[in-house]
Amino acid sequence: MIPLIVRDSNFYMVQELHFLLNETEISTTAPSGIVALDYLRKNLRLTGTKEGCREGDCGACTVLVGELINNKVSYKSVNSCLMPLGELHGKHLVTIEGLNMSVLSPIQKAIVDKGATQCGFCTPGIVVSLTGYTIKGNRLTKEGFKKTLGGHLCRCTGYRSLKQGFDAIKEHISSESGVKSHVEKGIIPEYFLNIPARLARISEKSSGKVETPAEFVIAGGTDLYVQKGDILPYSRIDLLNTHPEMKNIVRKNNLLHVGALITFEEFSNHPEVIKAVPAIREYISLIASTQIRNRATLGGNIINASPIADVAILLLAMESTLILKNDNSMRSLPITSFYKGYKQLDKTPSEILAEIIFPIPDSATRINWEKVSKRKYLDVASVNCALKIKGEGGIIKKIHIAMGGVAPIPLFLKNTCDYFLGKQITRNAIEGAFPILQNEISPIDDIRGSSQYKRLLARQLIIAHFTRLFPEAVKVKDFYGPN
Ligand SMILES: Cc1cc2nc3c(=O)[nH]c(=O)nc-3n(C[C@H](O)[C@H](O)[C@H](O)COP(=O)(O)OP(=O)(O)OC[C@H]3O[C@@H](n4cnc5c(N)ncnc54)[C@H](O)[C@@H]3O)c2cc1C
Ligand code: FES
Ligand code: FES
Repeated sequence: MIPLIVRDSNFYMVQELHFLLNETEISTTAPSGIVALDYLRKNLRLTGTKEGCREGDCGACTVLVGELINNKVSYKSVNSCLMPLGELHGKHLVTIEGLNMSVLSPIQKAIVDKGATQCGFCTPGIVVSLTGYTIKGNRLTKEGFKKTLGGHLCRCTGYRSLKQGFDAIKEHISSESGVKSHVEKGIIPEYFLNIPARLARISEKSSGKVETPAEFVIAGGTDLYVQKGDILPYSRIDLLNTHPEMKNIVRKNNLLHVGALITFEEFSNHPEVIKAVPAIREYISLIASTQIRNRATLGGNIINASPIADVAILLLAMESTLILKNDNSMRSLPITSFYKGYKQLDKTPSEILAEIIFPIPDSATRINWEKVSKRKYLDVASVNCALKIKGEGGIIKKIHIAMGGVAPIPLFLKNTCDYFLGKQITRNAIEGAFPILQNEISPIDDIRGSSQYKRLLARQLIIAHFTRLFPEAVKVKDFYGPN
């Protein structure tokens, strides 16, 4: 074993961590802030997990992380290049080495039989991701299979032969598949059966000292490790995911309370969220990859304050309230007054975003979210926009619109909303909003498009909202002619 990082316990968080790595129990005092990828490759010399971009884009570093929930282990695929080691305490970390058996699994065999690997650099991550997809017990679909591959870059074989492996894999995997049936069918090794009991024996709390106050609070780490991955291992960090009280979604009367640590995947799969925003699965599938969505939190999206933050835009239109806490106090404020300027927030350094609360829309309220990016999947927006609207007899009674990519902050379009209030939904009324909209936004030229292009998108997305939500009142051809 070659230690990677020279320890200086004054400068980073050191805890005694216990977790299962494949079949082996690990106890380590390696710094909690190093990423799992470095621990695997550099400390343990377990090099099946590949290092590509270190930014969550290529998927070569994909591993599964299993967590014991109600005596069962639930596995999620994550990018190990953005996963702090400290979060693995009490979990099961599965790498490609932990999936290998004396014969190829049906997933590995399909990849070989269809010629879906050449240099093989991307292959371990793909095998791990596909295993994670099939182990969930959902019905396997070609679409789900393709979306799983969306989190992986293959530069020499391409995706056609991988997609051709779908039928062969499906033959082996029934819809009620889980760990037990995966073991019986030779998809994963037998040792998986003992993992729940072994995890239950690992104590809940890790031991050791945590340096306070933290210099960085880390939620999913999908922004922070990209921005500051070089210094986090040497910094005092607070791993927010060790605060389980921020991981709930609860309905209280007509309000939905969402813990700030809820991930994009958890949010979009929750029945109360689906009731409130019926198309949420479709929207979230256009954000990042499965591996990122398994880690990225709502709180991180809001606090990172990217002007194109996809979820923050939706939550602005949903009339969300933010609950901010520190050791001594708690306060709430509307998300519409949270953003003060580029990456400037109404938040003190010691405050943690604990919860997001939004009203559950009534049956007369319609919601739509739109995103335009250079690629449909795994790309950030050029412009994104969310609208929540309540109409009665074709008259707009309430309206909330937020837009990203058109200002230094995720922007609530107050003036445009004020204009729409009380108007009948017609082509003329919608076109009447455009001068106000153009005055309210200030996009800049950047790699996601020129300012002029973004101004055009802003207009198109308003049209898209109304034509999608009110086809009985306005149609696309009303704005663009019959063709
Ligand atoms: C490959 C890739 C693709 C991506 N695609 C998209 C995309 O399509 N759309 C999009 O919007 N974003 C995208 N992102 C950005 C990112 O995934 C999201 O912004 C995500 O929501 C960040 O959440 P996190 O939990 O990972 O935040 P972290 O990285 O952990 O934290 C981000 C910031 O917020 C702070 N923070 C986090 N939680 C809290 C809290 N509860 N209280 C106080 N401070 C907190 C942290 O200190 C840090 O400053 C992508 C990222 C990657 C790497
Ligand atoms: S190394 Fe590319 S996603 Fe992690
Ligand atoms: S097989 Fe070479 S990158 Fe995919």
